[in-house]
Amino acid sequence: MTAAKVPGRDALVAKARKAAQKAYAPYSGFHVGAALAFANGSVVTGANVENASYGLSLCAETVAVANAMSAGLRGGLVAVAVIGGDAGTVTPCGRCRQVLSELAQLGGTDPVIWCAGGEDVLELRLSELLPHAFGPGNLG
Ligand code: THU
Repeated sequence: MTAAKVPGRDALVAKARKAAQKAYAPYSGFHVGAALAFANGSVVTGANVENASYGLSLCAETVAVANAMSAGLRGGLVAVAVIGGDAGTVTPCGRCRQVLSELAQLGGTDPVIWCAGGEDVLELRLSELLPHAFGPGNLG
């Protein structure tokens, strides 16, 4: 059996950029896209979805994780790309780090996170963004 083809950095960032076009962000005007790549070759995207009550807005990464999990994916998360706005690189917010970590921990991976924006792509591991993460294993 041949290994599944997992997109590289530029291909995954392009998918995140495309996803950002579907953002619903009338309040901030800050359109964010996220793309998740899985070891089985699946790619799942999400965009931020804002709400008139502001605080209930959903980030692109969280929407992408919900899309992936509701499609039945559990673990195997190997790479994440996130892009937003024009101001520079976007790193996932704290809540999104925890949400990404749940999916990653289900498969025991430490995905690379490509934070894009402007000209630069910052490359980090999820464990760098969220060290000593709490997760399903902590519940015994
Ligand atoms: N946002 C994301 O979608 N992901 C992030 O990692 C940071 C922030 C969204 C939330 C809100 O809709 C807008 O960007 C401005 O904060």
